[in-house]
Amino acid sequence: MDVRRLVQLVDNAFPKSISTKQGITLERKIYIIGDSENNSLLSDQNNNSNDDEIYWYFKDRKNPTVENIIKTQIFQLIDENLGKLYKKKSKKIYENDLDWSINKREEMFTSNMIYITYWDCKQNSVALFLSILSCEETYILENNDQGEVLYLYEIHITKEYQRQGIGERLIKDYLIEKLIKPLKIERQDNNFIGLELTVFSENNDAQNFYFNKIQMQYTFGSPRDEIINVMKRITRSFDEKLGEHCEDNKLPSLNDKKKQLYRKSIRKPEYYILVFPV
Ligand SMILES: CC(C)(COP(=O)(O)OP(=O)(O)OC[C@H]1O[C@@H](n2cnc3c(N)ncnc32)[C@H](O)[C@@H]1OP(=O)(O)O)[C@@H](O)C(=O)NCCC(=O)NCCS
Repeated sequence: MDVRRLVQLVDNAFPKSISTKQGITLERKIYIIGDSENNSLLSDQNNNSNDDEIYWYFKDRKNPTVENIIKTQIFQLIDENLGKLYKKKSKKIYENDLDWSINKREEMFTSNMIYITYWDCKQNSVALFLSILSCEETYILENNDQGEVLYLYEIHITKEYQRQGIGERLIKDYLIEKLIKPLKIERQDNNFIGLELTVFSENNDAQNFYFNKIQMQYTFGSPRDEIINVMKRITRSFDEKLGEHCEDNKLPSLNDKKKQLYRKSIRKPEYYILVFPV
């Protein structure tokens, strides 16, 4: 979808400031990665001195201030929250040997990515942000193999403001109710499905959040847990226990023995893909 229209919707959906339980007011700033094609169309709006705190970054006309905010402040929040996990998974998810920070920083400059950030202005630091991108995806729901979604690339809240209900408000009240639902009505087609995102299978806190607070579901094509039979380590005591369980001290049949040689185990994928259809 047209990124300029999406930015207007974001501007209407997300309040200019939000308050934390500690009584801190966080101020909104929006950053958009524009590509050169949009450059001429947007040049009149661009300039990073906008009153609405909406800043465009163009790849062919780099803006060092915005580049620096994305590469340092916003990146730092990801690093603090999930850096260790990204480091561990980088090779598998990015399919190369580069450090996760290089891969992540490159991904962060994907064309048309929109960053909705909230700043602690006294500290001059990013307290939280979401990044979204409109894109086509496959295997989202069982009955349609392709559709458009709003992809939530990242959502990060600094530790001191987590578990205050801010994440729920950002996704449910602003992103879904005020942006995605109106977008669905505006589109007037069935091709637009809703909100989609990826979550690491090891990130249990975020999974609890998405399943319990937002009521998201797995996409049709999401990797899932697999139940596998793992062979037990055979020890002398295991062999003796098998003997004890046999009536009349008969030796266990080969079939019984085989059954007991395995235990069920769950093999988790690297990540799951979740959707909230509207
Ligand atoms: C996940 C995240 C966005 C949720 O936002 P939030 O404002 O903290 O969440 P809310 O207060 O609205 O909801 C809290 C619920 O989320 C889950 N949750 C979030 N953080 C948790 C934590 N550290 N420990 C346990 N549960 C947690 C729980 O289900 C919790 O419910 P509860 O408080 O009733 O037990 C935020 O915690 C965060 O930024 N986490 C680190 C980064 C991250 O994992 N991002 C998601 C990447 S896919």
